[in-house]
Amino acid sequence: MAIRKILLETDPALRKKSRPVDKFDERLHQLLGDLAETMHHANGVGLAAPQVGILRRVCVIDIGEGVIELVNPEIVYESAEQIEESEGCLSSPGEYGIVPRPRKVVVKYADRNGEAKELEAENLLARACCHEIDHLSGRLFKDLAIRMIDPDEDDGEEE
Ligand code: NI
Repeated sequence: MAIRKILLETDPALRKKSRPVDKFDERLHQLLGDLAETMHHANGVGLAAPQVGILRRVCVIDIGEGVIELVNPEIVYESAEQIEESEGCLSSPGEYGIVPRPRKVVVKYADRNGEAKELEAENLLARACCHEIDHLSGRLFKDLAIRMIDPDEDDGEEE
């Protein structure tokens, strides 16, 4: 595994649409391992492949309960109930905004071996799923933030 360079929000790669994974091979496993190591090194709770310049539908999440690897994730359910919380991004260091997100989501995805899985996520985990899956469509949290937070006011999780 290796720590990869995290691209900043101004990098055009972060605005591109990522392509689905079709080969569940050693190269994918390497990418997943690198994403997890890079996320942990940066003290983030999530990291998506386009943030390291790889335009594939791959992301990792760890809200402190272990690494979840999501390949080709799709949100198939989101609760009508939303929560407005502070959110940040490893591609926008030091910046946080209040972003409304569904309180609960269900995500369909493939694991590293291509096996179909489903994840029910609530609260911070649901927020992390929405944030990372947005990256795969070139969407950033600032696009959805209802307001940005003064740096002295609060800090949230960086994803
Ligand atoms: Ni992010």
